[in-house]
Amino acid sequence: MTAASQSARPVRLSDVAERTPLVATTTSPDANTVYEQLRKRWGSIAPIDLEPGVPGWLVLGHSAAVGLLRDDHTFIKDPSIWNGHGKGLLGPGSGLHLVLAQAPKPTLADADGAKHARLRPPVDDALEQVDEARAGAITRRLCGMLIDRFEDRGRADLVAEYAAVVPFLVLSELDGLEPGQAQRLQEITRAIFEAGADARALTDELREIVTGHIALSRERGTRDIAGVLAVHPNFENDLERAQTLTAITAAATESLMAWVAQTLVIILSDPRFSHRVSGGRLHIDDALDEVLWRSTTNPNLMPRFAVRDVVLDGKLIERGDPVVVAVHAANHDPLVQSSDPWDTVGNRAYLSFGAGAHRCPAPRLGRVVARIAVAELLKRLQLTLTTDPNRVEWATSPWMRFPARLPVTFPSPRRQPAYGTWDTDPDEDDDAGWAADR
Ligand code: HEM
Repeated sequence: MTAASQSARPVRLSDVAERTPLVATTTSPDANTVYEQLRKRWGSIAPIDLEPGVPGWLVLGHSAAVGLLRDDHTFIKDPSIWNGHGKGLLGPGSGLHLVLAQAPKPTLADADGAKHARLRPPVDDALEQVDEARAGAITRRLCGMLIDRFEDRGRADLVAEYAAVVPFLVLSELDGLEPGQAQRLQEITRAIFEAGADARALTDELREIVTGHIALSRERGTRDIAGVLAVHPNFENDLERAQTLTAITAAATESLMAWVAQTLVIILSDPRFSHRVSGGRLHIDDALDEVLWRSTTNPNLMPRFAVRDVVLDGKLIERGDPVVVAVHAANHDPLVQSSDPWDTVGNRAYLSFGAGAHRCPAPRLGRVVARIAVAELLKRLQLTLTTDPNRVEWATSPWMRFPARLPVTFPSPRRQPAYGTWDTDPDEDDDAGWAADR
């Protein structure tokens, strides 16, 4: 029996003096232990600190997580109803200013109800028309170009020089942007991230470039992502179109970066896994799935906020309380995952692409890009991780899990495939690729 269920009165956030910081779930080398300790003590919903002194709830159970994500009438994304506004909880250096901003945010990822229902169909339509074979060919070409840049050096940081770059370049090309524009947008995005609240001039420049691109795409009648958004009738104006294009690109690049980087970590550092892959008993898709089960890219989803008081699993979630769905914990819920690692091979029942109205619109496209990005690298270079696999340094984001750096060495130049022959054909069926002896 959990501590919460022993007490008759539901637990409130203010009842709990010591709360685990959310970032402990992403920076710990063993995230499972942190989630398990919380699950053991609190059951399927635990009190945590989004940052020290900023309380919220963490949903750990699979069925509670799915129920909450689907109940977008009770749990909304608009942070203007956060009950911590005006209490001075966020210091000047807090990373939560944007997440908990009082002013409603304009993008579809932050929209609720009718507004989200209006903004989502253009995204589905724009992504639906992306030809996966073309996306695969673009990815392969851009990966080749990036590998050319460091191949002769014999060493590289696969996060900064590869995983963090490939997704943005691919999405920019699918968005119909010229390489020069894409590069400027990436510089601005990085600078905005670093400048935080002082980023007004940069945000203006970003908006100008993207709205200009939307107008040009309409004029030219292009059929890329920007072209579909440019003529979609669901939008009220070009600013909404530009915000949506930016939101698609941002959502894709962060998750893809983490997926590619983490897949490289397990293939390069876990001998049991790398041998299974190099021995041909597992397809690269299985390595990608292994990451989404074992150590997912988006372990904690951006908070939802309760629109009214709700009692769940013996906890009183009060109006305006932030509630974070722990996808990682939900994926490891003993009710959905057994201790046999082979149960997860070929099984895609994880929550890693979300659920409900805001679920990811592009799991297939994401897989095409991630699969080719991993495979191209393994095909070209015989990589050795130069850091102790048990000491991979994880980035300090509470929302994303990815290695901060992935230093590798490789003989150069090399011409033979490193792990045998990798099938990177984007035309293949996503579920194909089972090796004969499996
Ligand atoms: C081409 C690649 C991708 C694109 C274009 C894309 C785009 C998006 C967009 C636009 C949303 C917001 C949807 C909404 O709010 O209605 C979203 C949500 C989401 N995406 Fe993706 N994504 C991509 C790849 C990925 C990958 C690789 C992952 C993880 C492995 C991922 C995980 C998620 C999750 C978990 C959400 C839900 C967030 C939430 O409910 O708070 N996405 N994606």
